[in-house]
Amino acid sequence: MSSFIKPIKETLKAIAFRYTRLGVPTYPYCIEPIQLATLINEFERVKHLPGNIVEIGVARGLTTRFIAEHIKNQKLANSLEYFAIDTFDSFTASDLDYEVKSRGKNLQELRGFEYNDFEVWKKNFVAFPFVKAIQSDCSIFDYASIAPIKLVFLDVDLYLPIQKTLPKLFEALVPGGAIVVDDILNNTTYDGAYQAYMEFCATKGILPKVIGNRCGIIYKD
Ligand SMILES: C[S@@+](CC[C@H](N)C(=O)[O-])C[C@H]1O[C@@H](n2cnc3c(N)ncnc32)[C@H](O)[C@@H]1O
Repeated sequence: MSSFIKPIKETLKAIAFRYTRLGVPTYPYCIEPIQLATLINEFERVKHLPGNIVEIGVARGLTTRFIAEHIKNQKLANSLEYFAIDTFDSFTASDLDYEVKSRGKNLQELRGFEYNDFEVWKKNFVAFPFVKAIQSDCSIFDYASIAPIKLVFLDVDLYLPIQKTLPKLFEALVPGGAIVVDDILNNTTYDGAYQAYMEFCATKGILPKVIGNRCGIIYKD
């Protein structure tokens, strides 16, 4: 950069910071700091196990980007795959219908993520070739096709997709692996996640473990 342009840039930055709101730090993530920390700590714990990482429900990819950065910094990009599974088209109609008709939820409060686009999403991650995007309803996806799996972040909010997916994921998980589930908080719009998580733990005889306000964990011995 020429010695002429740099001082102008710094002056513009100072004006923007001092006289506008452009410099206010924001928190872009959909999940709590303790969940991001848990995901990284779990990644570090399982990194010597064989297997891939899976995030189910990725929205625009904020958490994907956060973990991908960690994988790149640890120079592990060539040793694993990070599968990012989403409909890339919001919730399925039948999952929403179940929340409204069987769980008494308000459809307008549940709606979201309709902005997404599979091709744009993939383009946004070309710098991270180990991130493999898969467009699918997680309830019907064949997890054996991406096994072995050592760490999962399951973040699809509603009861049915979580209730259907947890047993399949657990089956594909390596011993020592973990499934991290978001929204494990009762009496909220997305407490279908809480119900499905608690039911799964009860069926398997697993003691529920919630970190922070809503981060459920399932370990496989
Ligand atoms: C809360 S967002 C995920 C946020 C993301 N994990 C993050 O931390 O930034 C929920 C995502 O789940 C996806 N989703 C909902 N139902 C799904 C289903 N049955 N199969 C796959 N993806 C689904 C939605 O399209 C949406 O992108």
